[in-house]
Amino acid sequence: MEIMALHMDFGVEIHGVDLRDATPTNLYPEIRQHFEQYSLLLFRRQHLDIGEQNRFARLFGPLEDRSVVTMDNEPPEISPVSNVDESGQLMHSRHQRLLDLQSNMLWHTDSTFLPIPALVNVLQALVVPASGGDTEFVSSRAGFARRSAKEQSELRTRVFHHKYGHSREKIDADLAKQERFAMWPPQRWRAVWKNPVNQTESVYIASHAWAVDGMDPDEGSTYLTELMSALTRPQDIYAHPWEPGDVIVWDERAILHRGTPWPYDEERTLHSLCVSARDIDGLESIRPTS
Ligand SMILES: [Fe+2]
Repeated sequence: MEIMALHMDFGVEIHGVDLRDATPTNLYPEIRQHFEQYSLLLFRRQHLDIGEQNRFARLFGPLEDRSVVTMDNEPPEISPVSNVDESGQLMHSRHQRLLDLQSNMLWHTDSTFLPIPALVNVLQALVVPASGGDTEFVSSRAGFARRSAKEQSELRTRVFHHKYGHSREKIDADLAKQERFAMWPPQRWRAVWKNPVNQTESVYIASHAWAVDGMDPDEGSTYLTELMSALTRPQDIYAHPWEPGDVIVWDERAILHRGTPWPYDEERTLHSLCVSARDIDGLESIRPTS
């Protein structure tokens, strides 16, 4: 297994691996070590079918049930990130799912609005446009390390509120009213996630974060906006131009990501699988004590 850095803060490309060969005792232990250390792993030319992608993702833990966001003809765990509808047609520009994809162009962490949030996303590109459609990533671990000691101490005491509809409201008020965006009560998570393997700390924030314990709404909103922009400076970004068969695995505890636009008259289809975080991943440590 050879690795090559993608960004000075985080992320490596891993060569010489066929993810079909990964099992709990073969390849996965080394992949998991790199995951803990570098937060984002790129494997090129994998071309996994749904079953193979599913089997690889399961090595990290239980698959998230994404049935509320999947199309009828997809297995419940797969979340298609695509501008092609159920009948194979390109979506028109006001299609709700295209608006939903545009909500994913806000910096976020997946699933912070769920009662059990995600540990990892395994995302594979199937069809890519001729231009555009990169996914951008930053390290919220490096972002935490850049804060002053005083700010770090303050962040360790903070609790953020997350809800799915908040990130959708920013794009389209009608979109946010859909039942699937309002089905979970707001979640509260501590603002810093400490990795139990290497003790590194990361800011745990997303476009779904809408309030801060102990702050009035305006103050909380300003605090979240300023913190997010400090974590996502242009020089902090690794932008990935997808090729079919690319698989990117990232640590939701330590990475923020966002999609970018592409010409919507061209297909772009990716398959995403999220695995839920567990206590061994530090989940209990982000639950507020009060
Ligand atoms: Fe996402």
